[in-house]
Parts: sequence; C-alpha cells; structure tokens
Amino acid sequence: MRFYVTTPIYYVNGEPHLGHAYTTIATDVLARYHRQKGDDVFFLTGVDEHGNKVAQAAAERGLTPRQHVDQLAPRFRDLAQQLNASNDFFIRTTDPEHEAFVQQFVERMKANGDVEKRTYGGLYCTACEGFWYERDLAADGTCPDHGIKPVWLEEENYYFLLSKYQDRLSEFFRARPDFVKPRSRYNEALSFIEQGLDDISISRSSIAWGVPVPWDEEQTIYVWVDALINYVSALTYARPGEDLLARYWPAQLHVMAKDILKFHAVIWPALLMSAGYDVPEAELIHGYLIMGGEKMSKTRGNVLDPFAVMEQYGIDPLRYYLMREVTLGQDGTIGMDGFESRYNSELANELGNLVSRSISMIGKYRDGQVPAEGSLPLADVAAAGEAMVAAAAARYDAVEVTAAIECVWEFVRRLNRLVEEEAPWKLAKDEAQAARLDAVLHALAAGLRLIAVTLHPVIPATAEEILRRLGQPCAASDLLLEKAQWQGLNAAAVVAGPPLFPRIEAGA
Ligand code: MSP
Repeated sequence: MRFYVTTPIYYVNGEPHLGHAYTTIATDVLARYHRQKGDDVFFLTGVDEHGNKVAQAAAERGLTPRQHVDQLAPRFRDLAQQLNASNDFFIRTTDPEHEAFVQQFVERMKANGDVEKRTYGGLYCTACEGFWYERDLAADGTCPDHGIKPVWLEEENYYFLLSKYQDRLSEFFRARPDFVKPRSRYNEALSFIEQGLDDISISRSSIAWGVPVPWDEEQTIYVWVDALINYVSALTYARPGEDLLARYWPAQLHVMAKDILKFHAVIWPALLMSAGYDVPEAELIHGYLIMGGEKMSKTRGNVLDPFAVMEQYGIDPLRYYLMREVTLGQDGTIGMDGFESRYNSELANELGNLVSRSISMIGKYRDGQVPAEGSLPLADVAAAGEAMVAAAAARYDAVEVTAAIECVWEFVRRLNRLVEEEAPWKLAKDEAQAARLDAVLHALAAGLRLIAVTLHPVIPATAEEILRRLGQPCAASDLLLEKAQWQGLNAAAVVAGPPLFPRIEAGA
C-alpha cells in the first residue's frame, strides 16, 4: 500500500507556532504508523513563501521578500526537525523547480479552456490571502477567521472558470463520501459547492512577489494556486531521477485545519480536474488549538512558542500532550497547566514509573535478565496486550490518534495494577513463588515492548529508549506492527537509566 501524506505548507509571515507544530505532529504520527504497517510512505511538509501576506511581513521588517523568506524558511525546517517529524521532503515554493511546475500546471488549465482574462472584484482578506463572499462574513462584516475587515480589491486578472466544475464537483462528492473527514466538514464543503460556485481570480497584477504568469509577465499567479500545486510539484523533483509522481500521486491524505477547507476541498479538486490530474483520496480536517478562548494565530498574536516548550520539557512530552489533549477533528484548549498535569500524571506517574519499576525489579530479582515466561504464563495479560495492539491499530487506521493513545493507556494501567496486585517484592521473598515472579516480570517486559511499539508513532524517541532499556532491538524492521506480538520478546539484559519523565515540580 502507498501512503502519501501532506501537511499544509505554512506561510512564512512570522515564526512558526504551536498550531503549525500540531498539524506537523499529527501528520507525522500517521506517516510513522503507516511505515509500521509496511506501507510505502512519502511525507511532505514545507513552506508557502509567495503572496501579499509574506511580502507585507517582509516590508514591515525592512527586508526584501527574498531576504525575509530566506531567514524564516529555515525556522520552519528546524521546527519539523526538532519535532522529530519524519518528513521525506521539505518544499519551499521559491524552489525553482516548483515555480516552473506551477507555470506548466496553469498552462495546462489554459490549454483546457479554463482560464480567461476579466475584471475581478471582491472582498479580500490579506490574512487569509483569499476573497470572501459577503454572506460568509461575520455580522459586523469582519473575516470570521481573523476578525479583520476584508477590503474591496478590483483588478484585471486571469481567472479560473470554477463554475464550469460545479457539477463535476458535486458528482465527485456524492461518489466519495469519505473524501473529507470528519463528516461535518464534508457536509460543509458540499453545501459550499451546492450554493453555487463563482469563477475565481488566479492571478494578481498588483503583487510582484510570486510566480509570473507564463504568458503574461505583468501578472503573478495567485498564491493559493501556487501553494496548492506544491503537493504535486514536490514529487517531480524531491528525488532527482525518480518518478515519484507515478509512484505517489494521487495523495492518500492531506491534513490541515478547518481554516483552509474550502481551498482544499473545493478549489483544489477543480484545479486538478482542469489540469488533468487525479484528485487525492482524502482530506483530514482538524480543529483549532485554542488559547485564551481564541484560535491561536500569528494574526491574533496569542501564540505559544513550541521551541520554548520543547527546550524545557523535550519533544515527546509535547507530541504526547497535543495528540492526547486535542482530538483530531475537534477544537481543543491548551495551556501550560494542562500540559503539566498530563505530563505528571500520565507520562511521569503512569508510563515513566511503569518502565522504571519494571526494569529495576528485573535488575534486582533476576540479575537484570528478562526471565522466560516459564511454566505459569499470565495468559490474560498476554491476551490484553495483544488486544490492545489490535484496538490501537484500528484507531490509528480510523485517524483517531487520541483514541489510539487511550487504548494503550488502558494497558499501561493494567500493567501498573499487575505490579500492585502481584507485589513482586513479596513474591521475591518466597522461593516457592519463583515461577510466578518470572511470569510477572516477563509480562511486564513483554507488555512494555508492545506499548513501546504501539506508541512509537506518537513518542518515537521515548519508545526507542524503552526498547533499548529492555534490551530489545528497535530498527525500523523491529517496529513493524506485525512484530508486535506477545511472543516476540527477546531474551535480553535490561539497562537501567534515569527517569524517562522527571516530574515537573509545582512552581518550577
Ligand atoms: N499557506 C497556507 C496553506 C497552503 S497549503 C497548500 C496557510 N498557511 S498557515 O501558515 O496559515 O497555516 C495554516 C495551517 O496551520 C492550518 O490549516 C493548520 O494546519 C495549522 N494551524 C495554524 N494555526 C492553528 C491553530 N491555532 N490550531 C490548529 N492548527 C493550526 O494557510
């Protein structure tokens, strides 16, 4: 199976923030999970560098757009790296190969009779880089996403005859009820289509910072058209000499928040149809990270710096917190209090403690050697472990990462209860209980191995550290889901280490 998955390409109008991190992490979790299934994965992320929004940000800093993007694009690349995102490529829309491909793409649309020059006027929100219909604005006439008033913009532009695609889009949606997830977003996109589609401007004469229209150098291509095409263009040059387009297009999944649903679910399929490419299989639309009651956004200024959180607590706690707290598809309120409380109760007390007590007991009672299961295997714990793997996989398959984590955590708690109930420190005092003690210690190690493999997509570095401490191999082939069987534990020596998640003390 192929799995080509993408994040949006982020505007480089400011520093990356936690909202960007959230999408990148969620997408990375899915990419990593599909690798564990043995799928042929390609994971793309990157930055959107053209358009007015970026040009304005550059001007505010007294820089040329080129200087500005060259400074900021690496910050986004660093963010992906520091989040431990396993992206296979990082696209910049200023890559010359992308720019050339965008020109070819719009040439194909034109050759198909879908591009015309006309005077276009509309209410334009620079923060969205998009036009709004009056009917979709808030009651006070502001953009519902940014709370600012769009301005009337009128120019002679090339525009795309989107209205021609109304019927094809409706039919496409009817035939593909899983195209947009969750269902509420699918309905929203479909009703948008069925309200009637206007033709859209796809070039600008007033914005110089962009890809020139190939047949008219006076105009640049509308930043959203330029940006959407990245999902295809990247495949034409990410691996010189390899035909990734044939291998990976159409994409299996585009991941994004609901702010850019319309561009992806309505305009993008029509652009692809016009240029003669297949439409992606699915789009996952998640909600917003909310802070202080409002969507976290650069334009609103209420952003949390992911670099600061990672520096203080590490990457995996941040990945865990966001995936555990904010269910994909719903909005979620986040903040440092919530982070610290989940960190302490779930990561430090439940998972971290389970790892350290298991390893220290194997050290103390069995000279650091994971015992064989022996003559009294704990069949119910083994069955619960394997059931956990299957249940979590089903949740990952359904793109329900929070629910997958909950499946794992139930089993983490099960193993902690096992320790309390069996009290290995008592069993160790009684030679007659030696087989029971072997079985309990074996179950802890075998169970932790399944937990590590199943959590690997979410907290990869920690999962690998758990395997290392259990003396288990953790190459990609060892992390395959098919290896997540109770019996797969290697006889090995454990390695003690410092707490995986040192507790955050109040006031720290
Ligand atoms: N450049 C366009 C996307 C072009 S894709 C062909 C753009 N960029 S953006 O920088 O504004 O990024 C928007 C995306 O960032 C959202 O769709 C979402 O993935 C992520 N998020 C930004 N703020 C967020 C929250 N507060 N909460 C959740 N996701 C957030 O739009």
